[in-house]
Amino acid sequence: MRRTDGCKGKSPLNGAGPSLKSHRMSIKPILIHPDPRLKKLCAPVASVTADIGKLAEDMLETMYDAPGIGLAAPQVGVLSRLFVMDCVKEEGERPRPMVLINPEIVAISDEKNTYEEGCLSIPEHYAEVTRPKRITMRWLGLDGKLHEDEFDGLWATCAQHELDHLNGKLFIDHIGAIKRGMITRKMEKLKREQARK
Ligand code: NI
Repeated sequence: MRRTDGCKGKSPLNGAGPSLKSHRMSIKPILIHPDPRLKKLCAPVASVTADIGKLAEDMLETMYDAPGIGLAAPQVGVLSRLFVMDCVKEEGERPRPMVLINPEIVAISDEKNTYEEGCLSIPEHYAEVTRPKRITMRWLGLDGKLHEDEFDGLWATCAQHELDHLNGKLFIDHIGAIKRGMITRKMEKLKREQARK
């Protein structure tokens, strides 16, 4: 059982590649559930423009800063089909930042996997979610080309969690209504407290 998305663990951008250091990046505020923008079906990215590249870099910086292992565009208020992830968690291992534009699942394994998931939009709350253990995903890269790869274990869970975000779905939509309601009420309370500060 490992926590996804809202995980602890450091993955600094150092070593993420020269392309990620060539622009001035900025950390974006992450929307906290409940927020209507987290429930929307996001629109496909029409073309990979410089603006999309900048958004992806900002999202990676925001994700590493949180820290988390995945972040979807709607979590920073952009309702476009794009997410970033880096599930490398071992100390000293090279970061592997990935940007997936218009991602789709083209195959899933029968074998399932259960992880304790978290989400940067639902801080401090975790729940076990069962999903296919392996998936094949196809997406558009920042290079404007189609990519296809198989993800396994934590990478597969993270990719499915992030793809859910693009369809207005959160990990708590996979759990029971009672626990979901409890978490949502706690988040509403947290937001009220934050608004008062
Ligand atoms: Ni999430």
